Amino acid sequence: MATMESLIGLVNRIQRACTALGDYGGGDHAFSSLWDALPSVAVVGGQSSGKSSVLESVVGRDFLPRGSGIVTRRPLVLQLQKTEDGQEEYAEFGHLPRKRFTDFSLVRKEIQDETDRVTGKTKQISPVPIHLSIYSQMVLVNLTLIDLPGLTKVAIEGQPESIVLEIENMVRSYVEKPNCIILAISPANQDIATSDAIKLAKEVDATGERTFGVLTKLDLMDKGTHALDVLEGRSYRLQHPWVGIVNRSQADINKNVDMLAARRKERDYFASSPDYGHLSSKMGSEYLAKLLSKHLESVIRARIPSITSLITKSIDELESELDHLGRPIAVDAGAQLYTILELCRSFDKIFKEHLDGGRPGGDR
Ligand code: GDP
Ligand code: NA
Ligand code: MG
Repeated sequence: MATMESLIGLVNRIQRACTALGDYGGGDHAFSSLWDALPSVAVVGGQSSGKSSVLESVVGRDFLPRGSGIVTRRPLVLQLQKTEDGQEEYAEFGHLPRKRFTDFSLVRKEIQDETDRVTGKTKQISPVPIHLSIYSQMVLVNLTLIDLPGLTKVAIEGQPESIVLEIENMVRSYVEKPNCIILAISPANQDIATSDAIKLAKEVDATGERTFGVLTKLDLMDKGTHALDVLEGRSYRLQHPWVGIVNRSQADINKNVDMLAARRKERDYFASSPDYGHLSSKMGSEYLAKLLSKHLESVIRARIPSITSLITKSIDELESELDHLGRPIAVDAGAQLYTILELCRSFDKIFKEHLDGGRPGGDR
């Protein structure tokens, strides 16, 4: 339904506008509660389990630093916006407003540089998020994705002992929010019983209603073994089906295998697999993206009443905030406040039209 799509698009734009205001992450603005009320998707898992690779596949572009060891050292809040055919594809960082990146290898470099700017060229981590918006036709869904440092069991050379707990607390602060959809990433070449992702997901989402189990590295399992017990939900049952993934290997990355080739290779892997052939339509990164999109839609649908009341409240608060501030407000901040206000008004308007033209009581 067009209305649902426009609501999801608006939710996404409101999130982006709130972000641009520097509101997310402990801001004391009236609408930090609005940000928290909107759904986002965070990846959780052990180091090198394939988190960044999965995110890239869902986005459909190469732009994240990946590799062995601790590569992701700050949260990356990624806001995706699908564009129309023919429109330019670009990325924009929160810390570099108005600078459009059209070369995605420069996006990767900027993420690395911006990570180093805060943490130094060390193996330290920082909870200060990097914000990145991507506008592309390759985007499968308008959503907010969050890449997080990997959970680890021991500190390595150059890291303080406290890092293990610091990472866990940082990751937890994202996934404990009731509107956070958890992509729990576990590598198939390790025992699922030892999965850090599942352990944490279970703690913050006991019923499993917002956890998606993702099994990566199926191609790296020992010959003669398979992961059907996990994929068919017998090892660890979740409310949503498990999705198996084959990302690019380090050798593929070194050879610059591109995204389209990688997706094709993954499809072929499942289609021709003697173990997973019967599941092939429900495996792979494209299927995962569709599953997430459907889930996101149902979450937003269910939350429309509470989002609408928050938005109405935000409109009131924004109006009075703008009244109070009057003229002497930073131009950028003022413009952002107006943007959020406009977006909230549109949401309210579309929602009311939806109600008038639809069933009484709306979607719920
Ligand atoms: P992260 O640390 O969890 O973000 O993991 P990355 O996405 O950086 O991946 C870590 C390493 O594992 C990289 O060298 C990837 O190429 C490799 N890798 C990730 N997923 C797969 C997979 O499904 N198959 C294979 N063969 N390698 C993978
Ligand atoms: Na890694
Ligand atoms: Mg990573």
